[in-house]
Amino acid sequence: MTTPALFVCSPDDTTFLLAELQRRAPESAPRVVVAGLVQAAFPEGVPESPFAFARQSLPDVIPVEAASIRVWADAIAPRLMERFPESQPWRRHFWPHYGTGTAGNHRCELIAEAVDEQLRKRRRHLLRRRVESATAFGPYESLVQLVLTSPETGFLSIAPAPSPRRLRASVIPFVGGWIPVASDLAAPSRAFAKLLEAELRLGRAIASGETCVDLGASPGSWTYIAARRGARVTSIDRSPLREDLMRDPRVEFRRGDAFKFKPDAPVDWLLCDVIAAPQRSIELALEWAERGWARHLAVTIKFKGTDEYPLLDGLLPLAARCSEFRLARLCANKNEACVIATLA
Ligand SMILES: C[S@@+](CC[C@H](N)C(=O)[O-])C[C@H]1O[C@@H](n2cnc3c(N)ncnc32)[C@H](O)[C@@H]1O
Repeated sequence: MTTPALFVCSPDDTTFLLAELQRRAPESAPRVVVAGLVQAAFPEGVPESPFAFARQSLPDVIPVEAASIRVWADAIAPRLMERFPESQPWRRHFWPHYGTGTAGNHRCELIAEAVDEQLRKRRRHLLRRRVESATAFGPYESLVQLVLTSPETGFLSIAPAPSPRRLRASVIPFVGGWIPVASDLAAPSRAFAKLLEAELRLGRAIASGETCVDLGASPGSWTYIAARRGARVTSIDRSPLREDLMRDPRVEFRRGDAFKFKPDAPVDWLLCDVIAAPQRSIELALEWAERGWARHLAVTIKFKGTDEYPLLDGLLPLAARCSEFRLARLCANKNEACVIATLA
């Protein structure tokens, strides 16, 4: 049965997401709803592998029109009651995709309250099982997503467990797929926000006692995060790190070419933010995975223009060898994408 889905992206990425869907899943007949929203219908179900330019995915989506808050609740609550098991946890993501002020947010809150009210009257247990969390979806967690395209129109996705977990490469536990860009004034550069977001998307952070190789490490924000978490880091760059990191006993700096570096023994994490042609970074990620040099990878792929984006497809074969595989233009990325993976 054909499965309709809606994909959310940055409005600036709409044509790139459309092109990615047309290239990888032409049978899904993707079409732009409005800037930032692309609809598609998959004859074989929504694919588990991610689309790099999609920030969030809404599986099993239906368009809804509702003239009032009560009508919105009437469209949502009965479907939740029908499809979500009463004894299992579920999450709610409602957000507006119109206007610039707070009116849309307020409307989403009112709809959520009206849905709660119906559940309180008819399925109190189900209401109690709702959780608010941005951690990775568990196998028993369900998700309802509502994106409003105007006060009276929107798209509703009801995804009973285990679908959010199964589709975790593209359904992410942040509302609308938006991960707020972190700030840390003590970090050497703003690049640190990318690694924090990569960890959140993977659902795993660098841990104390782990080993990391950081390629293209200077001035050192990624090394700074890894060292602050208690990991041991070998950092490679042609330029030195910030002075305090050069003296940090957890950090070993080696001046040299990132593409020539080979680890003495496998490490827990490969971190790579080298400025290089996209194909070189893609090949580097594939080689490290192929040789088993790292268990987890976070590798930035940087672009000069936009015509190189299809090169990202070259990373997809890696997904088959990974227990976790993400490929995304991060919220903190500029003209880049990031592959984040855990080898199986
Ligand atoms: C965007 S910066 C990295 C920022 C770093 N992730 C951080 O958190 O501070 C890219 C780095 O790649 C380095 N680089 C570029 N080509 C390189 C190569 N072939 N070998 C080693 N480093 C390289 C540059 O010197 C630069 O410091």
